[in-house]
Amino acid sequence: MSTSAPVTVTVTGAAGQIAYALLFRLAAGGVYGKDVPIRLRLLEVTAATGAAEGVAMELEDCAFPALASIDITDDPAVGFDGASAAILVGARPRGAGMERADLLTANGAIFRGQGRAINNHAADDVRVLVVGNPANTNAYIAQRHAPDVPAERFTALMRLDHNRALSQLATRLGAPVGELDRVVVWGNHSATQFPDVSYLTRGGVPVTEGLDQQWLTDEFIPRVAKRGSEIIEVRGSSSAASAAGASIVHMRDWVRGTPDNSWTTVALPSKGEYGTVPGVVTGLPCRSDGGEWEVVEGLEIDEFQRPRIDASVAELVDERDQVHALGLVD
Ligand code: NAD
Ligand code: LMR
Repeated sequence: MSTSAPVTVTVTGAAGQIAYALLFRLAAGGVYGKDVPIRLRLLEVTAATGAAEGVAMELEDCAFPALASIDITDDPAVGFDGASAAILVGARPRGAGMERADLLTANGAIFRGQGRAINNHAADDVRVLVVGNPANTNAYIAQRHAPDVPAERFTALMRLDHNRALSQLATRLGAPVGELDRVVVWGNHSATQFPDVSYLTRGGVPVTEGLDQQWLTDEFIPRVAKRGSEIIEVRGSSSAASAAGASIVHMRDWVRGTPDNSWTTVALPSKGEYGTVPGVVTGLPCRSDGGEWEVVEGLEIDEFQRPRIDASVAELVDERDQVHALGLVD
């Protein structure tokens, strides 16, 4: 029997596609481990609380030993009460032909209210992961409405982009994906993102062969950056299981630490690292020792990387300015 104290985890958009893949892994111990009891709080819009009840019934039917309780609510004040983790999935996904920035007006207001509720009701140790798009700028909005929570506890999901990059590289190099490390995806979770292989290692050794510049520029970078659109086109709706899987490992690594000598990509409020613009929530190379995310220091940035990082950060600055103009942030 477990002796750990239960952890309250809030998931928004609990009746949606991503949540349907996420909640079962969470309840099975995918973030905190099998021995830490979880109190799940499912936050949905009123019209979808019935469907969330159905998901809760299925969760019960799995008889997960670590699942201590499930509560469903449409009230953010109740939903985030005492939360040590908040996974903000609930938002409208884009359809074919839309860019993620088109969702700013539709989804931005959700994150203003949820940021305030997290500020006022969550536990002191709350860790926030924003998945709903446009994820980086939604995280910015939420963070700006939570002045009492340390800014670095607000993150956005770029682990999916990171995983997409690793998988493309593994195929190209004919390497098991688990041997590859030190990829980073800079900037925005959008088509301007810069998946960067400058520091790539295989089995701990820098990769110097097998990735020519033309393949990187013409195939790898656009393929990773546009993978979300490709999934929407081929699948008919936006990625769900892969987004859920990335969310689980993002939270797991944050809570339990990244493996020794390894790093991952996390979108965090910038402190100006690597010439990024302070405040915007940008992809950065990060490690965790199980406490806070720590940005990897001391990497050299060359003339191939610089304009690509700058272009994606400029888009984040533009989105930031739009949400201020829309009155979503003062
Ligand atoms: P979905 O439409 O299947 O589910 C979204 C759910 O959110 C719905 O059940 C809806 O009722 C709920 N919701 C809407 N407003 C809410 C609110 N204010 N509070 C609580 N719940 C609310 O969508 P999905 O496929 O699960 O995708 C969810 C979001 O995640 C989309 O914005 C999508 O673009 C984004 N996404 C992000 C990534 C990433 O890597 N960051 C990857 C895939 C999808
Ligand atoms: C993705 O990257 O798959 C998601 O952000 C969905 C989208 O709109 O691209």
